[in-house]
Parts: sequence; C-alpha cells; structure tokens
Amino acid sequence: MRDWESLEDVYNEVLNCKKCALHKNRTNAVFGSGNDKAVVIFIGEAPGYYEDLKGKPFVGAAGKLLTKLLKSVDLSREQVYIANVIKCRPPNNRDPLSGEIDICKKYLYAQIDFINPQIICTLGNLATKLILKKNVGITSVRGKLFRVGGRLVLPIYHPAAALYTPSYLPSLEKDFVTMKRVLDKQIELQIEDEVESKEQLGLF
Ligand code: URA
Ligand code: SF4
Repeated sequence: MRDWESLEDVYNEVLNCKKCALHKNRTNAVFGSGNDKAVVIFIGEAPGYYEDLKGKPFVGAAGKLLTKLLKSVDLSREQVYIANVIKCRPPNNRDPLSGEIDICKKYLYAQIDFINPQIICTLGNLATKLILKKNVGITSVRGKLFRVGGRLVLPIYHPAAALYTPSYLPSLEKDFVTMKRVLDKQIELQIEDEVESKEQLGLF
C-alpha cells in the first residue's frame, strides 16, 4: 500500500515535515520542481542557501550551470523534473548524515514512483550511491548507464563539483549529450506511448 495518494500529498507532507533535526534550521523545505510527468528526473544532494530561501531546487550557482547544461541539449527545466535526496538545508551546507538520508529518502522514492520517469540522472556521489544502492565513487561510474528496477540510471558529476573543479566540465557536458541521446532513444522505443511522451516533453 502506498503512503500517499498523489505527488501533491507527498509535497504537503514534506512542507511540514519534522521527522529529522534539519527542520529546525530551514526557511523552506525544498520539494522539487519541473514536469511531474517528466521522462527524466535529476537528483541532487540537498538544498543550499538560495534553495532554502526560495523553496526551489537548484536556484543558486550550481542551478545556473544545470540550466545551461540542459539548454546545451535543447531541454528546459520545465521539461524535466529536478529534486534532491534531502529536502531541508543542512547547517552550513554540511554533508547530510546517514540517519537524515534514511529518514528523508522515502519522499524521493515516492516522487520517483509518482512521476515514473524512465531515466534517472543522479548528480554526484550521494544520489548515485543511494539510487544504485552501491558504494561506488562518481568518478568511476559517471557517464555509464545502469538499469535499476526497470529504470535507466545515468550518474553524472554534480554541477557544483564542476564549479569547484572546472576540469570536470567537459565530462559533465559530454554526459548531458549521453543523457539526451538516451532520452531520444527511449522516446523512439516507446512507439505506443510516443505521442504522450513527446507531449510531456513539449516537443510538439
Ligand atoms: N545542490 C544540490 O545538490 N541541490 C540543490 O538544490 C542545489 C545545490
Ligand atoms: Fe523531513 Fe527530510 Fe526535512 Fe528531515 S530533511 S525534516 S526528513 S523533509
């Protein structure tokens, strides 16, 4: 049995969630944004300063880069869905604790369940380990395609890592091209659902 009836139910619970200590310092919980029927979902780590203020994911410097990378493969933020593993900002942007992840991850899983994307792009180590359920480093798996529970998973460097270490940028750009190729292929393969998927992506 599902814990929630709809994505909106999950959203309403997250906005008021006090299940871990991170609720104490938040301005806003950050649920996610974009197309709730998206074919591809991007999963980051946790909200930062600006995300906490605005209640939206990836609105700071890393978000600007994410938007640019999407645009480089002809996608807009409205065509995809963007979320994080952790919904409330950790103090001083510290790494989320494993206990916090264990409590909060059910919301992300519910988002994936309701949105039902065919492709999951994990941004950086935390989301990649969680979704692949493996203790792998992002450097060894980025740009490679995995299948988890019927979905394709493509791990990619976190945009913030490329801001900090600009030498990651070419790999990041390349992996976005891979993501777009996989996305186009998935749409092509879905002959019966094709019309619907293209509509979801706003392709016509
Ligand atoms: N970094 C993340 O992982 N998520 C955000 O929403 C912003 C920055
Ligand atoms: Fe709830 Fe997650 Fe926020 Fe913790 S981080 S209070 S579990 S929504």
